[in-house]
Amino acid sequence: MFDKLASQPNDPLLALIGLYNADHRADKIDLGVGVYRDDLGRTPVMRSVKAAEKELLEKQDSKSYVAPEGDRVFLDLLWDLVGGKGQGKFAAGVQTPGGSGALRLASDLIARAGSGRIHLGLPSWPNHAGIFGATGLSVETYPYFDVPTQDVRFASMMKALSSAPRGDAVLIHASCHNPTGATLTSAQWEELAAVIAERRLVPLIDSAYQGFGAGIEEDAAGLRTIIAAVPEALVAVSCSKSFGIYRERTGAIFAVAETQDAADIARSNLVTMARTSYSMPPDHGAAVVRTILSTESLRQDWIDELNSMRDRLNGLRRELAAALGDGWQLAPQIAEQQGMFSLLPLKEADVLALRKEHGIYMPTSGRINIAGLKSEDIPRVAAVLKPLLG
Ligand code: LMR
Repeated sequence: MFDKLASQPNDPLLALIGLYNADHRADKIDLGVGVYRDDLGRTPVMRSVKAAEKELLEKQDSKSYVAPEGDRVFLDLLWDLVGGKGQGKFAAGVQTPGGSGALRLASDLIARAGSGRIHLGLPSWPNHAGIFGATGLSVETYPYFDVPTQDVRFASMMKALSSAPRGDAVLIHASCHNPTGATLTSAQWEELAAVIAERRLVPLIDSAYQGFGAGIEEDAAGLRTIIAAVPEALVAVSCSKSFGIYRERTGAIFAVAETQDAADIARSNLVTMARTSYSMPPDHGAAVVRTILSTESLRQDWIDELNSMRDRLNGLRRELAAALGDGWQLAPQIAEQQGMFSLLPLKEADVLALRKEHGIYMPTSGRINIAGLKSEDIPRVAAVLKPLLG
């Protein structure tokens, strides 16, 4: 059987981890995969996560199954965090292995119930198209961001979505757009929500970086504007970044509807699709998040640490923008963009040369993970980037 298979290429983003590790230069710089790093280049376990894990280790008295949809208390707490007061809608959640698991279940649901089409703004996280394609959805694209000018292509995006067929799904990044960091203004979120509602599109909102942009509440504002405007939505949530629990694969998909019955029907479908795929999600990460969100002291400590992570990112953005400023007129945009990523107008050959000649690693798209910078690296990085950008 296996000889009938063609070997598949490695995922380029994940392959970067191996390329970086194989480079023995002491001054190499990893601006690749989107994980948060501190100024020593580490991705530490958050204090509140450590404390929650200690508590679980002492108190957990069974490893039996939890429930088909996962940990219900975790789901309720997570929806409060993301959906806020719920905008008068009913949400039914299913815990998933990471945000990717949530996107996969959402995509399966759209394939089962919807038009079979999803509209994806470009550029986007490369795995979006992969996940949608794997469930048989046809992927249409709309413009989101212009790399040379670093501008959101809002008018073109509105034009494209205004003619999208009724009932189609549309992928929206909640905040901290991956790969561009380019955000919408509140007025633009309102306009986007109105077009989605008017065209009866079903938004699939990907929320993977809450707290890394402008703040925990601020980063959910756009998503909530859309939910308030539409009868139905799907919200895929990743806890990987906001809680720094990447390898615990913790996330959830929420079906949002105008009645509890409609949300419950969607959830029953999500649960059966999970059952025939991986049966039930892993527990540990959700138990950690539940413990943090339900314990006032841990919750506050989590908020404080997440705030300082965001402050560090924004400080790095300002430093990089300043260092690039005398060579690249669009440098101030880097300081305006939000979250871990910016997308630089670099040619693939430049990116490969940066790896080879300078030990600076980023995907060939030119996306940089700002968190991978250390303050001390910024002058050197800016010096090699300026001639390529200016
Ligand atoms: C990224 O975009 O780097 C992260 O979301 C990691 C991943 O799974 O691709």
